[in-house]
Amino acid sequence: MKSELELRKFVAPEYIFGVGARRLAGRYAKNLGGKRILVVSDPGVVAAGWTQDVIESLLEEGLAYELFTGVSPNPRADEVMAGAEVFRSKKCNALVAVGGGSPMDCAKGIGIVYSNRQPILEFVGVDKVGIPMPPLICIPTTGGTSADVSQFAIISNPIDKIKLAIISKSVVPDLSLIDPLTLTTLDPFLTACTGLDALTHGIEAYVSNASSPMTDLHALEAIRLINENLVASVKNPQDVELRTKVMQASLYAGLAFSNAILGAVHAMAHSVGGERDAPHGECNAILLDHVIAFNLPASPERFEQIASAMGVDLRGKTLIEKTKMLMKRVRELKREVGVARVLKDVGVTRTDVPQLSEKALHDPCLLTNPRRANRRDIEVIYEEAL
Ligand SMILES: [Fe+2]
Repeated sequence: MKSELELRKFVAPEYIFGVGARRLAGRYAKNLGGKRILVVSDPGVVAAGWTQDVIESLLEEGLAYELFTGVSPNPRADEVMAGAEVFRSKKCNALVAVGGGSPMDCAKGIGIVYSNRQPILEFVGVDKVGIPMPPLICIPTTGGTSADVSQFAIISNPIDKIKLAIISKSVVPDLSLIDPLTLTTLDPFLTACTGLDALTHGIEAYVSNASSPMTDLHALEAIRLINENLVASVKNPQDVELRTKVMQASLYAGLAFSNAILGAVHAMAHSVGGERDAPHGECNAILLDHVIAFNLPASPERFEQIASAMGVDLRGKTLIEKTKMLMKRVRELKREVGVARVLKDVGVTRTDVPQLSEKALHDPCLLTNPRRANRRDIEVIYEEAL
């Protein structure tokens, strides 16, 4: 059967996009039946003032709240359990997450632990969540992770130094309030890292084995928007129009990868991020060009479309030329936004490669990679990225 004729599902939450969206949190939390809201955020976002804006909108609607900010940059299983205990003991009945991927993933974890009354690590894998979580509203403050629209929650297990993926329709929020103004306080390095994460989402979703015409549309537009606007956005942090374009890219990439899933870049980056506490987007960026070189022969036409969305014409080129030209463009973009480190700069050595590869081989994101990768393939990609 032609792939266009196959049954396809596309999961997305309701979302409101635009400057000022964050101030709608109170109205929608009330509509969803919220009475006492657990606001999950982190100290940096609180300091930027975005959490307070959201709290004020809750108070304007007469809602009570508890604030939980015990979330590290890569949210840990014990932090999720602590948050779930606050939710229970303070008798909260809805969640509002304000921040990047970390508070949003932590809030998702808190919700499923509270409803299902089991440790968070019991839900790792695909479709392991039985009982739906309490209402969840997400307000993203970074342009890349897209946890606000995705059916993913990534939780770190600090004991085994591993990042684990919970993939379930149950962790798609009820509502996402996407306010590009929140990006204006994001520092240049995190703007770059989260933007390159969004680019990786677009690329991996577009070449994924589970892609569909619906995800393709969003993936290619996300790639185009990041390619055109990320560098300028890093250089002009207060330009709301540029921030809006990057936030749109993040949204589209999120809708694409939430439904098409990801690939080897994410499988391998999760493994690195579990071992070394480097930003997720940076881990992806370090590996992206090397994984493109590995994957391109499996899907040259699709990579030709990706290159075209990045302003590179690969028509009529040999496979080797195509690979070189696309890698060059990705590296150029990384350099222009100031992401210059390689694996050894984040503390990875050659002796770490076998263990990193072992963990990457077990990551569910590897299942949708367009080219089957065995242990040796993964090891070679890590070695090339050292
Ligand atoms: Fe990602």
